[in-house]
Amino acid sequence: MKKEMEYTIRNLSNKDLAKFVKYESMLSKERKEYANFWQVVEKTLLSEEDLHRWFQNLRKSILNGDTVARVVEVNMEIVGLCTIIRHGKWQETSHVGELGIEILSSYRHKGLGSALLAEVIKEGKRRFEIIECNVFSINKHAIKLYRKFGFKKCGTWPKHIKKNGKYIDITLMCLEV
Ligand SMILES: CC(C)(COP(=O)(O)OP(=O)(O)OC[C@H]1O[C@@H](n2cnc3c(N)ncnc32)[C@H](O)[C@@H]1OP(=O)(O)O)[C@@H](O)C(=O)NCCC(=O)NCCS
Repeated sequence: MKKEMEYTIRNLSNKDLAKFVKYESMLSKERKEYANFWQVVEKTLLSEEDLHRWFQNLRKSILNGDTVARVVEVNMEIVGLCTIIRHGKWQETSHVGELGIEILSSYRHKGLGSALLAEVIKEGKRRFEIIECNVFSINKHAIKLYRKFGFKKCGTWPKHIKKNGKYIDITLMCLEV
């Protein structure tokens, strides 16, 4: 940790609905307000009902053993979430998990993302053979974080995003665990 901060990393539990909704609502607000890469895709704000549905689906998938979901908490509030979700559409891809991670902006660059990712990969190793993620090629912090944990670039979707005539590539990364 670069700065001393008390935090807890734990599984997302069935009691976390209210905290999850608060965390996700703050993230959507940030994505809308800050002129960062998220604005490229202009995610719409999810309704509370959508968030409830998302949470229930996530919980179902955790209980089925298809998702690893850990949160990082500071002062009893969720400030980050990291998931690995099984590519379970076909049996033949079910050894692969898709990684996602996000930390609330005011808690970034303090080591929380690294601590959370380390825990999730540890659990992911028990369930998957390959962990994949895709990331905007302009998202240098995330790419640096993934590389730190051994992810390798395994491809590019060139010009995958087109916004106001400008293109952004997607970098594909994978980790054999
Ligand atoms: C990517 C993200 C999860 C990283 O979380 P974080 O808590 O900021 O990460 P950490 O503080 O543990 O830093 C992890 C690594 O990122 C890089 N990094 C972090 N802050 C950085 C900065 N200001 N400048 C350059 N690199 C930086 C470093 O490589 C760092 O490792 P190091 O400290 O050992 O050098 C976070 O920035 C985030 O939520 N970003 C928005 C969402 C996102 O991009 N998610 C991934 C989409 S695929």
